[in-house]
Amino acid sequence: MNNNKTISGFSKLTKSEKLDWIEQQFFDGDSTLSETLKQYWHCDNVMQDILDGFSENTISNFPMPFGVAPNFMINGKLYLVPMVIEESSVVAAAAAAAKFWLSRGGFKTEVIGTKKIGQLHFKFTGESSLLQKLFPQIEIYLSEGVKELTKNMRNRGGGIESLQLIDFTDEEENYYQIRGEFETCDSMGANFINSILERFGELLKTFVLNHNEIVADHKDVQIIMAILSNYTPDCMVRASVSCKVEELGTFAGGIGAKEFVDKFTTAVKIAHIDPYRATTHNKGIFNGIDSVVLATGNDFRAIESCGHAYASKDGKYKSLSSCEIKDGEFRFWLDLPLAVGTVGGLTKLHPMAKISHQMLGNPSAEELMCIITSVGLAQNFAALRSLVTTGIQQGHMKMHLQNILIHMGAGPKQILEANKYFEDKTVSFSAVRSFLERPVVSS
Ligand code: MEV
Repeated sequence: MNNNKTISGFSKLTKSEKLDWIEQQFFDGDSTLSETLKQYWHCDNVMQDILDGFSENTISNFPMPFGVAPNFMINGKLYLVPMVIEESSVVAAAAAAAKFWLSRGGFKTEVIGTKKIGQLHFKFTGESSLLQKLFPQIEIYLSEGVKELTKNMRNRGGGIESLQLIDFTDEEENYYQIRGEFETCDSMGANFINSILERFGELLKTFVLNHNEIVADHKDVQIIMAILSNYTPDCMVRASVSCKVEELGTFAGGIGAKEFVDKFTTAVKIAHIDPYRATTHNKGIFNGIDSVVLATGNDFRAIESCGHAYASKDGKYKSLSSCEIKDGEFRFWLDLPLAVGTVGGLTKLHPMAKISHQMLGNPSAEELMCIITSVGLAQNFAALRSLVTTGIQQGHMKMHLQNILIHMGAGPKQILEANKYFEDKTVSFSAVRSFLERPVVSS
C-alpha cells in the first residue's frame, strides 16, 4: 500500500481491510489500533451486522453507558427510565429529582399537539395571483396523487392534515413553498413525510404542465427541494411539577423552602433574561432529553435543533422552562416541541432501543413525549436545585473523581481510599494525582 491518505473504494473494503488501510496510513502500521477496535466488535456476528447496517464505513462500535433512573411518577404511572449519556451525574440527578417529586405528586403532562411539518420549496415564474387561485385545485390534485402512499397511515388515524401555499417572492424571486401539516401517529414520520413531499414535487410539475390557464412561458416549475421541517411547534408537550412551597422542605446547608423558591425562581427568570445563561440552562434540560431520546433510538439532532429553535421563537433565545409561585404554590414546567416515534427507524431495530421501549412498557409516541419531557424537567430541577444551594461542583466532582481514578489506573483499594479522602475536599486532576502518589506509611 503506498503512503497516500486519499482512497477511492474505501466502502468496498472489508472491515479488516479498512482497519489495515487506516493502520498503515494513519498509525504507522501499529497493529494495536486494530486489536483495540476489534475488542469492541460484537461477539455475535448477526448483532454486529445489525449495528453495521445503521451506518457506513464502520470499523468498530462506540460503547456508551446505558443507565436507568427509577421512581419517575408521571401522570400517576411509575417508570424506570433508560438513559444513554456519557456525562457523570446526569442519571444520578434525574433519579434524585424523580425521587424528590415522587412524594409530591410526581410529574403531570399534557400533549398539546402532535402535528409535524413538511415543505416543498419551488420556483414558479407565472403570476402569484394565478397560483393562489389555482391552489385549491392543486391541493386536491396533490392529495389524490399520494392516496396510495398515505393509505396505511390513514388507516392508523394519520395522514395529511392540511396544505398551505406560502408566497416568499418578496424575499427570493419566484420562490414559493407548499407547507404541509402531517399526523404520523406513533412514528416520527420522516420517511413518510419526505416520500410524500417528493411525490408532491412530481405532481406539481405535472399539474402546471397540463393546466390550460398557465401559459406556455410559465409551465416550467422548478422544484428546489422537498423535505420535512424539524421545527415542530405544533408537536408539543408540557410537563409540570407543583406543590405547596412549605412542602418543598429544607435543602442542603439548611436552606429553607422560602429562600429556596426565591433563588430558584430568580434562576429561572435569569434564563429568560440572558441568552448566555439560557443556553446553559437549556443544555441541562437536554442532558435529560437527549439521553432518553438516544436510549429509545430517536433522532437527538432533530430534537435538539427543534428545541433550540423554539427557545428562540420570540426573537431572543430563552429558557424552555418556567416557574411561578401563586397562592403559596410552587409550580415549575417545561414546554417542549418533541417529534419522537415508538415505531419505525431504530426504535425496534436497535437491540438496546428495543429494551428501552420494553422497560418503559412499550409506550405510544404521545406517552414517550410525556416521559422525555418529564426527564428534561427533572434534570433542570436537579441542576437548579444544586446551583442555588450547594453549587454544582460538589456532586459533579464526586462523580468525576471516579473517572479520574480510573484514568490514572487506580486499583480498588486506592479508589475506596480516595473516595473517603475526597469526601470533604476539592477534586482536581492534580489533587487526585498527589493523593495517589503520596508516600504510603506502612504501620
Ligand atoms: C451541566 O451538564 C449542566 C448544567 O450546567 C445545567 C445548568 O447550569 O443549569 C449544570
